[in-house]
Amino acid sequence: MDPLVVANWKMNGSEQLLQAVVQQVDGLAEATSATVVLALPAAYLSLTKAFDNTQIEWAGQNVHWLTSGAYTGEVSATMLAELGVGWCLVGHSERRQHCAETDDMVLAKTKACLELGIRPIVCVGENLQERQAGKALEVVSRQLLVVLKDIPSALAPLIVVAYEPVWAIGTGEEASPEVAQEVHEALKHAARSEVKALELRVLYGGSVNEDNVKTLMSMPDVDGVLVGGASLEALGFRRICEQVAGSV
Ligand code: 13P
Repeated sequence: MDPLVVANWKMNGSEQLLQAVVQQVDGLAEATSATVVLALPAAYLSLTKAFDNTQIEWAGQNVHWLTSGAYTGEVSATMLAELGVGWCLVGHSERRQHCAETDDMVLAKTKACLELGIRPIVCVGENLQERQAGKALEVVSRQLLVVLKDIPSALAPLIVVAYEPVWAIGTGEEASPEVAQEVHEALKHAARSEVKALELRVLYGGSVNEDNVKTLMSMPDVDGVLVGGASLEALGFRRICEQVAGSV
């Protein structure tokens, strides 16, 4: 499977940054086997039409589970699909934490994406307390299986999972490659218990930068990365993409 680099800008960025990042990473995907996806704030997604001639792929950071209605501030999968957005983050820990997203909402959002042919990047991850209590594998497996148990198994290969330990997000303290490997392996195992022979792609996210990405990618079950802060600097992000591309 080709490695995947996803940039999550969160509520950051500008039109200028978009231009700069596209300039840096355009052509990389063409020249290598890596897929580069930019998860932009909804406000910038309509600008991506200008980059139709690039190999860069686009993601929403959130989606509602309904197609339309009186839900001020929300974005539907129909709208994302209309803009040619092929991917969407679902269940990011910041949304679980600050917007009270539950496992059931994550499932409904995943289904909404799949119905429109948008590939969901389902984010899972334990918090520090759960890790210290030895519950990390239990937590992430539950978060994943809630989704896999309730979607048609034929659609399961469209899902990508991002393992993002909450304690590693924005802290500068990434999971060690061994910890990432252990969790990714457990997630793939849990996935196969639900959907036989599923080749689940699992990304690692949480303080990924140009200095640690290579070691993380050297682990057999790390299939790509989800990059937050370090994706907001065009040249640095390019260096991350290059290293991911070179890892196969
Ligand atoms: P940082 O890379 O800034 O730690 O953020 C990770 C993340 O949440 C990506 O979705």
